[in-house]
Amino acid sequence: MSHREYGKNRKPRRLLVTGGAGFIGANFVHYWSARYASDRLVILDALTYAGNRNNLRELEGRENFRFVQGNICDRHLVDILLKEEAIDTIAHFAAESHVDRSILGPAAFIETNVIGTFTLLEAFRQHWQSQQNPEEYRFLHVSTDEVYGSLGPDEPAFTETSPYAPNSPYSASKAGSDHLARAYFHTYGVPTLITNCSNNYGPYHFPEKLIPLMCINMLLGKPLPVYGDGQNIRDWLYVTDHCRALDAVIHGGKPGETYNIGGNNQVKNIDLVRTLCKIMDEMAPNLPVRPCEQLIVFVKDRPGHDRRYAIDATKIKTELGWMPSVTLEEGLRRTVEWYLKHEDWWKPLLSEEYQAYYRKVYA
Ligand code: NAD
Ligand code: TYD
Repeated sequence: MSHREYGKNRKPRRLLVTGGAGFIGANFVHYWSARYASDRLVILDALTYAGNRNNLRELEGRENFRFVQGNICDRHLVDILLKEEAIDTIAHFAAESHVDRSILGPAAFIETNVIGTFTLLEAFRQHWQSQQNPEEYRFLHVSTDEVYGSLGPDEPAFTETSPYAPNSPYSASKAGSDHLARAYFHTYGVPTLITNCSNNYGPYHFPEKLIPLMCINMLLGKPLPVYGDGQNIRDWLYVTDHCRALDAVIHGGKPGETYNIGGNNQVKNIDLVRTLCKIMDEMAPNLPVRPCEQLIVFVKDRPGHDRRYAIDATKIKTELGWMPSVTLEEGLRRTVEWYLKHEDWWKPLLSEEYQAYYRKVYA
């Protein structure tokens, strides 16, 4: 069955979306509210540097929408929300998500990604156990392909049975949280679903990540810092395709299972940056420096930099009928256009705190 059919004859769900003010979480909330208008969406987000309430501005005031600023490590708050809102589905996005920040300061990654996920799982377990008919309850744990470690040039792409081999504090903390989600199904029967997705890109992406950083630096005429030799490979997926995949997993996924999600778009960083430069040259009317390629500089490599990620998405395709729908070229064009039109969104994010972070990483 195609995942598009899950919309028919369904009972409205009541979702707690953690990290819904971040990049993927916000895209998911927009996607979900447009598609399932009768569902209740309760957003729990601590609004760290990466969270931005403006990402959800258009939804504020809607009857089925509630935003709560709070921490997933706050068990009392999570208990209250699960009960008061009669939550049946957790979509768990909240995380510290940037590898370079995990190298500078890993503690927050352990706190949010491991302890925070544990707190949510424990709260959801008790909530789920106290229900009469919890068959439709789901805990979606959104994770990353980085837990599988780094691939050599000729190795096959990661499948759901690839061994875990995380290399950064970020991926190690996500691996820990994946193991907890898995254990809660096997030990207690909690209906957890785990997804491991490749690199996302699209609207609302915080400036520190490769694609928005390059777009913004091009618009400002600043250097485009490529780590190492630029030959590292990532498998890029447009964020709305990720949201469609999560929809398919929530509605059709089997509790206790893992689903890999990927774009089937393996590209070397340097090639990606060059493509972005060409698109920006073509689409931006006023650039301080043109052609943008002149701005590329190779900088000191990230410590422990994983060489290659690639996802084998056969399982989600065959079992749930999901496939990516946006080509890389089209997705990059949409993304460049979004950053061109939303200077009012990204300019305020280049704060003093962000500049201090930038100096530390790119010194
Ligand atoms: P992000 O950094 O843009 O957003 C994270 C959100 O979580 C922010 O809104 C932040 O305020 C919130 N948050 C952080 N700590 C919190 C806490 N303790 N309590 C409550 N809220 C907190 O991240 P993203 O790129 O949107 O990633 C979302 C999820 O998807 C993460 O779990 C990440 O590991 C995973 N993922 C990301 C990618 C990617 O390419 N970005 C790929 C695969 C998987
Ligand atoms: P990033 O967007 O940080 O995602 P991840 O590390 O989770 O894959 O980086 C994507 C790739 O781009 C990664 O190989 C590191 C590289 N990169 C650069 O070359 N320069 C940069 O300034 C950044 C932020 C990333």
